[in-house]
Amino acid sequence: MMNKFSDWGIIGLGTIGINISINFSRNGIKLSIYNRHVDGLEENVAQNIVKRNKGLKDVLTFDNIESFVKSIKKPRKILVLIPYGKPVDEVIELLLNHLSKGDIIVDGGNSYFRDTERREVYLKRKKINFLGIGISGGTIGAKNGPSIMVGGSKKTYKKVESELKKISAISPLKKYCCERVGPSSSGHYVKMIHNGIEYVEMQLIAECYDIMKTEMQYDNLQISKIFGDWSKTNSRSYLLKISQEILKFKKDDSFLIDKILDKSENKGTGIWAAISGIELGVPNTLMNLAVNSRYISFQKEVRSKYSKLIKKKQSYIDISINDLKLVYDFSRIINFYQGFEVLKSASKNYKWKLNLSDISFVWSNGSILSSELIILFKEIFENGNDVLNDYKINKYFISKYNVIKKIIVKIQASSVPSLLISNSIIFFDLITQKEGTGNLIQAQRDYFGSHGFNLIDSKKLIKNNWNDKEL
Ligand code: 6PG
Repeated sequence: MMNKFSDWGIIGLGTIGINISINFSRNGIKLSIYNRHVDGLEENVAQNIVKRNKGLKDVLTFDNIESFVKSIKKPRKILVLIPYGKPVDEVIELLLNHLSKGDIIVDGGNSYFRDTERREVYLKRKKINFLGIGISGGTIGAKNGPSIMVGGSKKTYKKVESELKKISAISPLKKYCCERVGPSSSGHYVKMIHNGIEYVEMQLIAECYDIMKTEMQYDNLQISKIFGDWSKTNSRSYLLKISQEILKFKKDDSFLIDKILDKSENKGTGIWAAISGIELGVPNTLMNLAVNSRYISFQKEVRSKYSKLIKKKQSYIDISINDLKLVYDFSRIINFYQGFEVLKSASKNYKWKLNLSDISFVWSNGSILSSELIILFKEIFENGNDVLNDYKINKYFISKYNVIKKIIVKIQASSVPSLLISNSIIFFDLITQKEGTGNLIQAQRDYFGSHGFNLIDSKKLIKNNWNDKEL
């Protein structure tokens, strides 16, 4: 006799929720899906979704939370895929009225990691297990196999592992891109940093697009072709591939890209990532600048107003496409280096024991960051190497420092503002500068605030009376 109970429950039937449901269903996992009932606004949502999607087979639909919970096999496994913040707390409260000891709530949204931490502690007191999982891959990944970063106890993970692996992407290395990265909120934290790196990756492509369009006078098809050519090399990435497709996409005989308002938005995860690096004391300049790039972009009206202030001259930049590719690749390395430095520090600070090689592996397919470069980073971490000292990074990039610097200087002198490409070499110059300017900063701090400073050859904190010019 067929089991009348479902294996999993899913709450949240947006595009990601529907596509993940199709993915579960395709993998033979019996589902109950739930969407609330709001008179006149949200009626029979789950039922209608099943009617519309052939991929949803043998799925039970609900708009009553109690019957939904009762329809799931114990210990119940419920995946919540709704917008982060208050809605997640509300759904948890709603579920708590009906769940039994040992049931498992899995938050698969982009929740802020500190909320996840709080929810885990709260639910533990109620004897409910909780996992915070980062899911990457957008709507297509959700259906075909996303990258899954799990945070929570090993014991709870064991209970959902095989099913989460079934729905996840498989890497070129023939393993599932689904791992428990660490305890508690570490899964959501790793996803947050993934998104910070993603913001930079996107912005770097946008800067290359701007240089090719504005300075080199290439049209959409030419730029698309160049991204396509890059995609056949070690620069290959999911984001480059979709950019290639976006640029050649036509609607009503004209390029859609030219009709889209250039005002970039965000949902916040990249901002949390940027702030986290700052909080931990890790220089993540590119993430911060990528967030700021989006903010500047969003100020379309301000930009339009001030655009009248100055007449910018096109310089027909004297660099080749290969030159541009080299600085693009270099900037990406700085981006991933900085992102992983944040993860390293968070791991130490929060005692998560994150394995950077495993994380790179989880991102290697299904995720928005899937690329050749992340596979290289996996190798680097697997071999216990330091990124900037790694043999391949040295051979292909660091050894070309002078060439890269010259190209970036030319880009800076052009009419295109390349905030991230420029900063990648500035960051590299700073991180390789043995003698810096911290001495003057320390002296200034001591001058006005008596904060003290160390002398080069002593560990003792010294305060100077600057007005008497005495040490
Ligand atoms: C992913 C994406 C996904 C989403 C983010 C980014 O890994 O699948 O990162 O989670 O697109 O929310 O959104 P914003 O650009 O709006 O911040």
